[in-house]
Amino acid sequence: MSERPSGQFSRADLDRISAETFVEEIDFHLEIGSTNDRAMDLAGERVSRSPLLVLTELQTAGRGRGANRWWAIQGGLTCSVLFDLETAGLPRGAAPQVSLTAGLAVCEALDDLIAGASLGLKWPNDVFLEGRKVCGILVELPRGRDGALVIGIGINVNNSLREAPLDFRDQATSLRDATGRHFRLVDVLVPVLGCLWERLGWIGSRGEELRRRWRGRCLLTGRTVCVDSGHHQVEGVCRGIDDDGALVVDTASGAERCLAGVVTRFK
Ligand code: BTN
Repeated sequence: MSERPSGQFSRADLDRISAETFVEEIDFHLEIGSTNDRAMDLAGERVSRSPLLVLTELQTAGRGRGANRWWAIQGGLTCSVLFDLETAGLPRGAAPQVSLTAGLAVCEALDDLIAGASLGLKWPNDVFLEGRKVCGILVELPRGRDGALVIGIGINVNNSLREAPLDFRDQATSLRDATGRHFRLVDVLVPVLGCLWERLGWIGSRGEELRRRWRGRCLLTGRTVCVDSGHHQVEGVCRGIDDDGALVVDTASGAERCLAGVVTRFK
């Protein structure tokens, strides 16, 4: 059940999201543990219209990839989109490309909001602004709903990292910290959703252009990286992202392709 908006989003903001984006239904919460958890639950219940946006003013138990947590307070933008791959014109098996595509979409949408900003991708889908993480993305496959996907997006917008726990403070930034400006959350969310949907459509129709753009945004190319792929650690010099979206790493024993994993270090 959606709640009434209060401070961060107005009723008019929610109406604007419905009118200007692909979202068919908004599940709005003043406060929630994790928008991804909620979207995964709703996927199983099959009651909501899709694409569905789970949106909150305050997320208290945000999850990230691997062991990551996502820190958020009021002023941060946290949401998840639940949709069926078919609705987006995507083939089954497109999930790995979705991660990179979502990160790219956020880079491009933020580019238009902050002129001259340096926005890049830390494979597979962290967005960095001026060398610090500004956005994290968590793509998950809901159990019990074949062909559906949840994309969770967290963007530090007006939440200053000065208020964050120490372990986040040194590595992350927010739009406000980087620009000194205050942003209306809806003015960030609407272009992000617009760009996300358009770029997802490119997976089937303009793959070559999409790949060219991921590569151009890759912050790891030429740097020494350590990738935890779950089964083993890969260490070496990153050679970029290949056509399948894998990170290519030159190791002491030859080139390795990482199709999934977390980059734990890079320099
Ligand atoms: C990461 O940094 O590893 C990914 C972080 C993803 C955070 C977003 S915030 C909205 C959505 N809900 C969650 O619990 N996580 C994602």
